[in-house]
Amino acid sequence: MKQLFVIAILLSCVVLFAGEGEALFGKKCASCHTPFIPMSKLKENFLDRNNTLLKLKAPTLNQLSYRLKQRIGDPKGDEDIHRMEVTAFMSDYVLHPDKQKSVCLEEVLRYFDTMPSLKGQVTEDELEAIGDYLYDFDKKVIAQKSVRPKGFEEALKRAKKEHKIVMIEAMSEDCHFCRKMEREVMIEDDVVKALNDDFISVVIDVKKHALPLGLKAPLTPTFIFVDASGKVLLNIPGAWGKEDFLALLKEAKEKAKATKKE
Ligand code: HEC
Repeated sequence: MKQLFVIAILLSCVVLFAGEGEALFGKKCASCHTPFIPMSKLKENFLDRNNTLLKLKAPTLNQLSYRLKQRIGDPKGDEDIHRMEVTAFMSDYVLHPDKQKSVCLEEVLRYFDTMPSLKGQVTEDELEAIGDYLYDFDKKVIAQKSVRPKGFEEALKRAKKEHKIVMIEAMSEDCHFCRKMEREVMIEDDVVKALNDDFISVVIDVKKHALPLGLKAPLTPTFIFVDASGKVLLNIPGAWGKEDFLALLKEAKEKAKATKKE
């Protein structure tokens, strides 16, 4: 009984800890680092509008999370080690900021002065909790905002019922351009809406699973559009920017309409 009690307390600490990073970030970092802004807005702000659109005080957390994970340590190595490396860099930066060490893009950093040191304002334990939050942020946002995948058979059933088109995204975990599209295109509001309106989207990791209907994807990502009868409408390899991807969705819709008339 006593042991169970101890385990219950330990578990509740773990849960507290997971949410603690977010709360600490809100308290100690968010006055300068806005948590999330979509990539299209960030690009417009930094590349076209000299930061006059958003008037940001610092890189956003989605920028930090992505950039730090990409540039610090070995992103393809062991996750626990990588998490420690990223947290160590972040903790050191917060106490001893120096723009020479910054890893964010120069096009972004040029709008900011060096971050003031938070020495004495944040403990090591707090930095560790913030590190976990930062490390998981990029993936969490994508999982929350994206249209979630379904298996192909189920997708086809739903496509029939809802008069929609199945979009298969053939990807793999280590494909850089898949990640880039996930974070820059697939979670944009108008893309999510277009996909929700007319498509059932399925994500298939081609290194782990075969594609349905005997389909092949020579490279990743490849987008394959299949109508509710199982007929392939389009099979397009490559990564796309938002506007091109929206145009591709439109083309798939037109193809589906034309096939129906045949
Ligand atoms: C008073 C505003 C302010 C606060 C508060 C602040 N930062 Fe920053 N931070 C900045 C600015 C501005 C930059 C960009 C310039 C630079 O790299 O020094 C930055 C850069 C960084 C970088 C380096 C990014 C890179 O390109 O490598 C990290 C990491 C970072 N902040 C983490 C944090 C964390 C974690 C907290 C909270 C514990 C925090 N910051 C609180 C203003 C702030």
